[in-house]
Amino acid sequence: MVRAVYPGSFDPLHNGHVDVIRRASRLFGHLTVAVVHNPLKSDGLFTIDERAAMVRETVAGMPDVDVATFQGLLVGFMREIGATVIVKGLRAISDYEYELQMAHLNRQIDRDVETLFVMTATRWSYLSSTRVREIAGLGADVTKLVPPATLRRLRRRFGAPTAVPAPTTS
Ligand code: PNS
Repeated sequence: MVRAVYPGSFDPLHNGHVDVIRRASRLFGHLTVAVVHNPLKSDGLFTIDERAAMVRETVAGMPDVDVATFQGLLVGFMREIGATVIVKGLRAISDYEYELQMAHLNRQIDRDVETLFVMTATRWSYLSSTRVREIAGLGADVTKLVPPATLRRLRRRFGAPTAVPAPTTS
């Protein structure tokens, strides 16, 4: 059975992530969504535990998917749980260089690890956690962009959206 890990900051989890989780979970015997602090990014809106909780609520009911947090090297965590595949989502060519560098480095550290990219669904290709944080904080309605577990926490943090229409999704 091939065990895969989908690592990320997930600050917060949005529908693009959920799409990758669903599709990747069909490819592997087991998928662990690993929430981790990215030292290259700022402190973040939600704590690691809050992010893990929103992922956990969202994947409840998805067979063979679990959620974990870890500190330290991704490949070290993968060794601990017996995972050999890293799943990452690719939205656009702009993601490619960053992801390619990480894929090569991870393989450099651990030869047994492979990174597989899932192309983000077209309808979510413009979506990022950074933009979700930004527009939710400015009062936009992000109902159509994030799962309910994220929406609830964003509302708790920022209050109800102000009089801006919900974005239409195509
Ligand atoms: O969602 P992100 O922030 O783009 O995900 C980046 C993440 C968390 C996958 C990456 O920073 C990571 O793997 N961090 C764990 C520490 C590590 O192993 N760093 C070396 C990566 S080459």
